[in-house]
Amino acid sequence: MSVWPMNLPASNVGLMVLRSRPACMEARRVLLVGSGGREHALAMALTRQEGVQLHTAPGNPGTARLGTNHPVGSGDVTGLIALADELDVHLVVVGPEAPLCDGLADALGERLCFGPVAAHAALEGSKSFAKEAMEAAGVPTAEHVIVRREGALSEALDRFSDAPWVIKQDGLAGGKGVLVSDDREQAEAFALSAIATSGSVVIEAFLPGEEASMLVLMDASGYRCLPASQDHKRAGEGDAGPNTGGMGAYCPAPIVTPDVQAKVESRIVAPMHAHLSAQDVPYRGVLYVGLMIDEHDDPYVVEFNVRFGDPECQVTMPLLGDHALEWFTAVAKDEVAEMNRPLETGALLTVVLASEGYPSSAVTGREIAGLDLNARAVTGQDRAWVNLAGVKEDHDGTPVSTGGRVLSVTGMSDSLQAAADLAYARLASIDLDGAHHRRDIGAKAGVQHSEMN
Ligand code: AMP
Ligand code: GLY
Repeated sequence: MSVWPMNLPASNVGLMVLRSRPACMEARRVLLVGSGGREHALAMALTRQEGVQLHTAPGNPGTARLGTNHPVGSGDVTGLIALADELDVHLVVVGPEAPLCDGLADALGERLCFGPVAAHAALEGSKSFAKEAMEAAGVPTAEHVIVRREGALSEALDRFSDAPWVIKQDGLAGGKGVLVSDDREQAEAFALSAIATSGSVVIEAFLPGEEASMLVLMDASGYRCLPASQDHKRAGEGDAGPNTGGMGAYCPAPIVTPDVQAKVESRIVAPMHAHLSAQDVPYRGVLYVGLMIDEHDDPYVVEFNVRFGDPECQVTMPLLGDHALEWFTAVAKDEVAEMNRPLETGALLTVVLASEGYPSSAVTGREIAGLDLNARAVTGQDRAWVNLAGVKEDHDGTPVSTGGRVLSVTGMSDSLQAAADLAYARLASIDLDGAHHRRDIGAKAGVQHSEMN
């Protein structure tokens, strides 16, 4: 299956930075920041390039087998700068948003970094900043008001009372900063607590439709949209239950037809690129565009993130083939417009295995059976593999759960159905007491699920 018109150059709008040579492969020593399933997927992608020396801070047992883990937390910007200097890495690839919001890319100075400076990372760090940027760029999004005082809250809630209220805390909240509710009392209480925590709250119109995630590699020279994916944010099947970090994803997402893709590029990505390129420092990294696509196939922005999605990353990175390092290096050097590496074709689907009690309170510290940490990477067209997230090794090498989202199993094949069959079959061989997973990943894209899932 073809998911991208092969050999098309990256889209190329706004400021062009022309250089005489293509994005070259100087970067070999790489520091990857983070420790989740997303970072394990990034580590797998980066090390497909021969000769890469991967260093991860702090990493997990999966990244440890692809390079060297260092005991520096992803929130420790000073420690990360010192590590990058000590290792004299050619490129820093930042997984999570928090160090970007805290200025890691700024503090790296001349060192190449895949991940934007803090002034752009505020697109994720502040919902009101993101809405203002969308307004300035003229991209379609939900109408909104920013409420800073308790006294103005009631009027704002009245304004949006004909559909569920959508209330967004104005700061990083680890995925817990948004409430969508029909219950006014609950909406009011959430908004008051958000104002108390972050000083302001965004209240916006409810957007009906179906969500999709578009990951866009972006720098001053241009951008390249990767094939769209779809996350499954709710804990329960049929999109029931509480919101989570993401319980599974697939790519490509059929809801993003070529027509929708063209609208997303012309109405959202191109204007955002122009807006961001006009700032003092260009955006260099991945812009995650969270989309709502309505019944007329018109896309609206629900949110921007300044990093790869987790688990969207797990189903998108393999499409970069052996060239992830080249792409990331090109972005860090403002050369993405010159990159013409074709993406791989294929369909991917990933299922997250979560600990008992996740997302409210995860039970951890349990042994995981059927998981061989030393399994060699599989290659070929039809394959399934595991990305580790909340997993550590016991003193004797036994894998033990340490977090809410423990791991994700990804299948890759020529159709989403075949990818799902591979992923679920692999997941069935892993055993963690009390763990749960969704058995309907991909259902909206027509994937059929057997009882066994
Ligand atoms: P956010 O962190 O802004 O992506 O919001 C988390 C989730 O809340 C999204 O993935 C959507 O499912 C939902 N959501 C956010 N904003 C809206 C909106 N304006 N209309 C409908 N659902 C929304
Ligand atoms: N999977 C949603 C996110 O990474 O924000």
